[in-house]
Parts: sequence; C-alpha cells; structure tokens
Amino acid sequence: MQLIKNELQIGLEKPVRLLHVTDSHVALVDEHDDARKHELAKRLGSPDKEKYLAEQVAYAEQHCDLLVHTGDLVDFVSHANSAMARNLLQNEAIFFIAGNHDYSQYVGEAWEDDAYRMNSYMQMGYGLGVPMFFNARVVGGVNLVGIDNSYYRFADWQLWRLKKEAEKGLPIVLAFHDPLFEQALYDYHFERLPGEPCTYLVGCDEEHLLRYSEFRAVQQRPDKPTLDMIDYIKSEPLIKLILTGHLHFSFESNVAENLPQFVTGSGFDGVAREITLY
Ligand SMILES: [Fe+2]
Repeated sequence: MQLIKNELQIGLEKPVRLLHVTDSHVALVDEHDDARKHELAKRLGSPDKEKYLAEQVAYAEQHCDLLVHTGDLVDFVSHANSAMARNLLQNEAIFFIAGNHDYSQYVGEAWEDDAYRMNSYMQMGYGLGVPMFFNARVVGGVNLVGIDNSYYRFADWQLWRLKKEAEKGLPIVLAFHDPLFEQALYDYHFERLPGEPCTYLVGCDEEHLLRYSEFRAVQQRPDKPTLDMIDYIKSEPLIKLILTGHLHFSFESNVAENLPQFVTGSGFDGVAREITLY
C-alpha cells in the first residue's frame, strides 16, 4: 500500500483521522452474470484489486476513525460485484459515495444519465444498502458529506441537503467522485496526458471546454444547479476540505482560498491517503 499523509487544521478539539480510498474498480463475476460481463472481468479483473482494498480497510480499522471511499468501488454492475459491495459497505468503518463505474453496465457502452443510473441502482437491488446519492455522517465533530456527482453534475436537491447539513454548524469534509475544476489541476491533466479529449472535471466554463472533444464537452458541460452548488461550496466557510478521485492520479490544490481539494490516486494501485484533521 502506498500511503500519502496530510494534516489539516480545521479547529477540532481532538484530532480525527480519515483514510481516503477511491477507484478500487473491483471486477468480479459469478454464474448469474452474462458472457459479456465475464469478458470484462477477464480483461479488467485482478486479485490485487481485492487485496489492496482489504489492506486499506484493515489499515483504516486499525489506525483511522473512518475510511472514506469516493466511488468506483466496482468497475461495472454485476451480481458478484453487488454482493461484494453490499457486504463490504455494511462495515460501519466505511463511508461511501458512488462513482460513475458503480452504475456502469458494460463500461463505456451507453450514454450515462439519471435514467441509466436508476436502472443500475434498481438492478443492484435498490442500491447497495447504504445511501448512494447523498450521504452524511458526523465523526468526532467533523461532518462528512458525500454527494454523488458521478455524471459531472450536481442537482438542486443535493444543494438543499448540503445547506441542511451546514445548519449543524460543524466543520464539513466533502467527498465526491469527480473533482471540481481548478486551473492548476486542469493544466496538469493536459500536461500529463496531452492526447486526452477532456479533463473529467466538474464545472469547466466554455473557455476551458474549447479544448474538449464534442462528446466530452456535452458530457461534462455544467448546468445551472451544478454551478450553483460550486458557488455555494466555495463560499461556505464550514466546508474545510474536498476529497475526490476519478482521475487515477494524486493531486492537491485549492479550489478557493482556504479550501483544499485532494484528488487521490487509484485504490487498485494500492494508493490511499491518510488525513489527520485537528
Ligand atoms: Fe470514475
């Protein structure tokens, strides 16, 4: 396991330690899954993925107050993946918010929108036994708030719920799958992968979408509720930190003054981030 360590002062009486894990992309199948899913599992599966996930959970149980998983726990929806995820997420030591792959049927085969997501959600058996679209939990005086933004957008109701959480008056750590647009992260992404058709960030304006392929611009262009959510996140002083994944590399920057955003690399590579809040 490759452990990145951070400390952040947010004014707690006693420190709270989080283990941030994201993008495990577990790819399991069983006899209930069709031939195409078996093909995917053959191509994308690896025992290392489950091994690293088990190591990360064990580490968090031993050393941290909570494991925060920001999605793509599985690579695609299958009977075996849903059974694994449902079982894992029963663990009270884990806080989860979903990513795009958690709803993906065959990886990149369809336009993914609310209807697609709900279809997968129902196929899993109405989700995985924990809240998947909005999740909140108080741990040691910190309010962990997870918001599903896995299709690059937020919804009005999620902003309403986040404001409701802020009424508790506790410092908030936000967790979501897709990182927010930030210039240094945008630049780094294209520097690292100049051939990419996009940066997979939420809230790119038209100027920054110019470089995108048409398909990726349509997929990732923010709508009004998304922009409203981003404005609120940047202006609410109770929000102290954003934890994200999706990009499969690690990066740290600030999306606003005093608001760091940590992108953590892939759980399937063994990467995890230990954050001590104090
Ligand atoms: Fe993702």
